Amino acid sequence: MLNLSNINVNGDWINWGPTAEVAEFHQKMFQGFLAQTPAKIREACYSEGRLVHILSAEHFDLSFLEKICEVTNAARRINKIPDAPLKKLLRNKSVLNYFAQPSSRTFNSFSAAESLLGMRREEVRDLRTSSAAKNENDRDALRTQSSYYDALVFRNSCNYFDLFALWVMQTSQRPIPIINAGAGQEEHPTQALLDYYTIRESSHHRVDGKSFAFVGDCKRGRTVHSLAKILALHEDIEIYFVAPDEYQIDTTTETYLQDRQVRTHKITDGLNNLPEIITGAVYMTRIQDEHDQDKRTKRYDPRFIFTEKMLDSLPKDTVLMHPLPKREEIEPYIDYRQDKNIMLWRQMRNGMWLRTALFAHIFGKDDKILDYYHSCKQSTAPKPL
Ligand code: NCD
Repeated sequence: MLNLSNINVNGDWINWGPTAEVAEFHQKMFQGFLAQTPAKIREACYSEGRLVHILSAEHFDLSFLEKICEVTNAARRINKIPDAPLKKLLRNKSVLNYFAQPSSRTFNSFSAAESLLGMRREEVRDLRTSSAAKNENDRDALRTQSSYYDALVFRNSCNYFDLFALWVMQTSQRPIPIINAGAGQEEHPTQALLDYYTIRESSHHRVDGKSFAFVGDCKRGRTVHSLAKILALHEDIEIYFVAPDEYQIDTTTETYLQDRQVRTHKITDGLNNLPEIITGAVYMTRIQDEHDQDKRTKRYDPRFIFTEKMLDSLPKDTVLMHPLPKREEIEPYIDYRQDKNIMLWRQMRNGMWLRTALFAHIFGKDDKILDYYHSCKQSTAPKPL
């Protein structure tokens, strides 16, 4: 979670209002909301014991992770049954995918998950087509968009848009579940869930005691931050952050992990022989140069490229992952190899199943999926959903 007292609401990310007076008024109200403890904010994401606002990896616990992985597995399997029984599950629910930043996989896998569940779905992907173009403030914009739907999935370049969205919901008369599909450089909790599911499935559900390497842009990669926090829920975890100094993991995240007994290491001179000793996953990331002034002028440091030779030396159960999009950080020939531990594309597809399970969880239909799955296993006549 961001250090709430460090949030500078005067930044130019959020449109707070057309005049300084209006903006200051709303900012003051938001600051009041931020004065709550992180524990109170976490509590506000629950409704009747169920996590309904998926905003931060810090809000998850092991029992939530276990259940969501179980439901993901069940959804994946029952979808193979003719007449797709999942389709009826959320057919009277609607969702808005409100993406203010580019996205391929996250957007499309949310969209595919919504479609699998029979939800009515709409999208805003270009803010120039909305009243943002008329200088509408972001609070009104979000409140307006949310008032026609039963859930809102958002992606935004602002680091605290998750908190902003929660505040808007809490102060509106029609709060709906909200899902963070990537906020600034800080959090991408649903990507972390699908990454975790992938790791868990490829390690026979044994994550305790494993080591992981995050490579590339550890500083600004929101997927790195969120996944590392989830891994920290496990016992005896070791994490190597492999990046040049300028892209190294930030102190706030490192302290968060160390406070939870994760053994962290910063490796700044390249991947070298490290993959050989990693027992969990090597998680590659691209440099997030959309945040740089001199975009794409620097070449990726070749010392941090994952090579075919490294793939050959990976321990048998260690997987190679990447949230994608990838660029030059993985040798291209690897795309043509069939090794079972190259998990990139399976990881991506897992996103659709994981997000299906997440909607089912939010709307309290997860047990229906599990019951149906178990009844299919036990008899030839499955229970209707
Ligand atoms: C990531 C993101 O947007 O943070 N992509 C994704 O959601 N799969 C990673 C990235 O863009 O590098």
